[in-house]
Amino acid sequence: MRVSVCGREAGVTADVVLRPMRWWDVEEVAAVEPLLFGGDAWSAETFWAELAAPGRWYVLATDGERLAGYAGVAVSGGEADVMTIAVHPKAQGRRTGSALLGALLDRARGSGAASVLLEVRADNAAALALYARYGFERIAVRRRYYQPEDVDAHVLRLRPLGPRQ
Ligand SMILES: CC(C)(COP(=O)(O)OP(=O)(O)OC[C@H]1O[C@@H](n2cnc3c(N)ncnc32)[C@H](O)[C@@H]1OP(=O)(O)O)[C@@H](O)C(=O)NCCC(=O)NCCS
Repeated sequence: MRVSVCGREAGVTADVVLRPMRWWDVEEVAAVEPLLFGGDAWSAETFWAELAAPGRWYVLATDGERLAGYAGVAVSGGEADVMTIAVHPKAQGRRTGSALLGALLDRARGSGAASVLLEVRADNAAALALYARYGFERIAVRRRYYQPEDVDAHVLRLRPLGPRQ
């Protein structure tokens, strides 16, 4: 089923299919990681561990056949953390990231989280724009957190995580 509903709360739609990530998706996802995160790419083992960890939920976006993106959230004690969000280089700029983030927020909300936290590189313009669209606010800066590039990390929070608009 093709959906264009996730991300609606931020006034956006994306023409992608969203479904939970499963163990059989890990190989394909891990192959895309280095294209998006370079030396910080997660291994297949990391994805395995994440899928098995308590409170985790990972979602996959496809164009019906090919992988378009994926994202994950950890919910614990009324708080949620965005673990990752990634859109295939060939699929970027078409609101897939917005749809994935909307799905994570829905999941966090449905699991009783009152706020959502994440960390982002200060030089990641696309990600900062995405989070701003959803109302995330900067609450802290970790100076020179990303090495060796010497780039700050911004800690962003969305609170309150109220009912969907
Ligand atoms: C960040 C990322 C997930 C965004 O996914 P996407 O599907 O391209 O994003 P969308 O199409 O939903 O656009 C979201 C916003 O980002 C903006 N944007 C997209 N690409 C951009 C770019 N290269 N530079 C600046 N802004 C950009 C869009 O204009 C939009 O902002 P708007 O709502 O104000 O118009 C994607 O770029 C990505 O996977 N990057 C590599 C991995 C990564 O950095 N993940 C985030 C780690 S915190």
